[in-house]
Amino acid sequence: MPTIQHSTTPKSLQIMQWALNPIGYMETNRQRYGNFFAAPISPTTQDRFVFVNHPEALQYILTHDTTSELTAPGEANRNVAPLLGSRSLILLSGANHRRHRKLVMPPFHGERLKVYSELICTITKKMTASWQLDQPFSARTSMQKITMGVILQAVFGLVQGERYELLQQSLAQRLDMVSSPLASLLIFFPFLSKDLGSWSPGHRVQQMSEMCDRIIYDEIRERRSQDISNRDDVLSLLLTARDEAGEGLDDISLRDELMTLLVAGHETTATALTWALYWIYSRPDIYRRLMDELNGCSDPLAITRLPYLNAVCNETLRIYPVAALTFPRRAETPLELMGYPIEAGTLLMGCIYLIHQHPEIYNNPQEFNPDRFLEKTFSPYEFIPFGNGVRRCVGSALALMELKLVLSTVLTTTSLALVNKSPVKPQRRGVTLGQSPVMLKRVA
Ligand code: HEM
Repeated sequence: MPTIQHSTTPKSLQIMQWALNPIGYMETNRQRYGNFFAAPISPTTQDRFVFVNHPEALQYILTHDTTSELTAPGEANRNVAPLLGSRSLILLSGANHRRHRKLVMPPFHGERLKVYSELICTITKKMTASWQLDQPFSARTSMQKITMGVILQAVFGLVQGERYELLQQSLAQRLDMVSSPLASLLIFFPFLSKDLGSWSPGHRVQQMSEMCDRIIYDEIRERRSQDISNRDDVLSLLLTARDEAGEGLDDISLRDELMTLLVAGHETTATALTWALYWIYSRPDIYRRLMDELNGCSDPLAITRLPYLNAVCNETLRIYPVAALTFPRRAETPLELMGYPIEAGTLLMGCIYLIHQHPEIYNNPQEFNPDRFLEKTFSPYEFIPFGNGVRRCVGSALALMELKLVLSTVLTTTSLALVNKSPVKPQRRGVTLGQSPVMLKRVA
């Protein structure tokens, strides 16, 4: 029987590699060990993590992740607790997790999405109008402002105003503190985030976190004192929710849930948009085909159904998935996956990046080729940018709609060019996979 292999490199060095060069870490281990490998990527626990790089095994895990065999334990995500709080959806498990998901899902699906389509186009047009001719700008900063605007409206029901501006700025600053590969070490080595005095990085992290919390708690307090019966943003829904005992959520739970949706809901989509702009403006053939398809199409619903635009968005999410891994699933009993024995207690992470780069599934996986999505339908475990199972991304429908509407608005309202022709590379951004800077400029 085959066994799951792991590198003999000391654990602390492996954590550094994973933090500073995640793509290199995944590729090297896959070349050596294949579809499964053990990866000791947490400095604070002795948990046994295994990366799962094959769709067949991942399908089994994610279709059994609420059974006696496998679970999706929230406590395994404790490294995001300093940012999101310990009562975040991401850290909850079992019945409590299911109850919170039910509360936060509706505003991100179905009819509610239509309301946001107009908002997305309006915010994007405002942004494109601010780009000056021949003046370079950071694609990421602009995309982040757009996605933040959308999520502030969906989650808080905040449109414009002083609190909106303050929250936007302080959250962006807080997230930027762990955005470079080196700064991401703060997440992997939590002792570095300790406030050791005004000179320490931990001090600034604490200051910015307190600032964000103050703004969020002010909004919660104000909303508790208002009539919110007609409001349908997430904060208002959470404020009126009651459990079986008739108890509502306390302020800390509310803050943690709001912070989770704010962070998960805008950083990820901004990264995907930045990649998409890079690919589109570095490939004139793709740009022209998109422009032909968009010609005369202005209805948001019709735009979200355009096949080539859909293929470009899927290929963007395939080649460098924003989340390289799913959240961990734990084997509760000994299991066998594709002939490999898995010990009880093992934490299994679906490696989205390696599955999206699997040569048996994708021809020339390193090539950006949207046509592959027009020629073949991939299974939800071969193409899995939003995970699956009990922790599948709650914002996937909103993110896909946002990608398509922001891109179509940018393409049809302005002309852009890349400032620099050198290739943009993937690099760690906190717990996600971002990219080196993409600079654009408006051209005549
Ligand atoms: C391109 C954009 C996005 C990508 C690639 C992405 C990806 C993911 C992935 C891979 C997971 C883990 C799934 C699993 O373990 O099976 C996840 C979970 C999650 N996502 Fe997203 N996401 C995106 C946008 C969003 C948006 C817009 C929101 C909020 C509106 C959001 C909120 C969440 C939340 C709350 C979870 C945790 C769910 C749970 O623990 O039950 N994400 N996302």
